[in-house]
Amino acid sequence: MTTTSVKDLEDQAALVTGATSGIGRAVAFQLAAQGATVLVHGRDAGRGIQVVEEIELSGGKARFVAADLTTADGVSQLVAEAGEVQILVNNAGFSWFGASADLSPETLDTLFASNVQAAYLLTSALAPKMAAAGLGSIVNLSSMAGIIGLAGGSAYGATKAALSSFTRAWAAEYSPSGVRVNAVAPGPVFTDGADATNIEALGTTTLLGRAAQPEEIADVIGFLVSPRASYITGAIIPVDGGRTAI
Ligand SMILES: NC(=O)c1ccc[n+]([C@@H]2O[C@H](COP(=O)([O-])OP(=O)(O)OC[C@H]3O[C@@H](n4cnc5c(N)ncnc54)[C@H](OP(=O)(O)O)[C@@H]3O)[C@@H](O)[C@H]2O)c1
Repeated sequence: MTTTSVKDLEDQAALVTGATSGIGRAVAFQLAAQGATVLVHGRDAGRGIQVVEEIELSGGKARFVAADLTTADGVSQLVAEAGEVQILVNNAGFSWFGASADLSPETLDTLFASNVQAAYLLTSALAPKMAAAGLGSIVNLSSMAGIIGLAGGSAYGATKAALSSFTRAWAAEYSPSGVRVNAVAPGPVFTDGADATNIEALGTTTLLGRAAQPEEIADVIGFLVSPRASYITGAIIPVDGGRTAI
């Protein structure tokens, strides 16, 4: 799949968390194709450097920043290394599906630390700087799992519902200062972090009868952070093949 390459993000720096894999990786390629300098974040340096090299080979600009976002210290380290950015995509996270009784308290903690606390701390550190500059765009990765009830997805769904709630409240807090805050709520997407059999099965429940490729989510994010979406803030955009429409 090709990326849309309208050069509407030149002179902008974009931090994409979790860009070493899946949706984040596709977002990094997309924003670089639109002219942004992309900070490719993740924990796996090998995969991170590979993403940077692929972006550079296609004429884009990128650098890798490593940080574990499960801890507040890890987030502070990322904030320090990121410097000034105009675009933040809160994408890093993971899913856990299974019987609620089988989720250990430790995994529940890690799920909320990676998916919720990290986005909260990162945005609290970076959005005020964007607001002071009067310019910025933030996109949060929510999910269809945060909208509909999926058996086995109670905790994961709650982390994603939190991201939707953050989106509306941060839009109220920062948009009067020129910072747009939106979310995408993808349906099932084929990535390394998702079990392919589950994703395929979920895909058959959508109106389009299939799961998505990461680029189909990245394209929407590329639009949302661009000036083409200048009047959109506080929106949660379903990118789910129509699953939550029914
Ligand atoms: N796939 C789907 O069906 C789907 C649907 C709706 C929403 N989403 C959301 O989309 C986002 C990306 O999902 P994906 O399927 O693309 O996942 P993925 O392929 O597993 O990639 C996850 C990325 O997040 C990073 N990451 C995870 N936890 C981290 C932590 N504690 N600290 C630092 N980095 C961390 C990983 O870094 P390293 O690998 O370098 O460690 C990796 O780059 C997630 O927020 C997910 O909830 C996914």
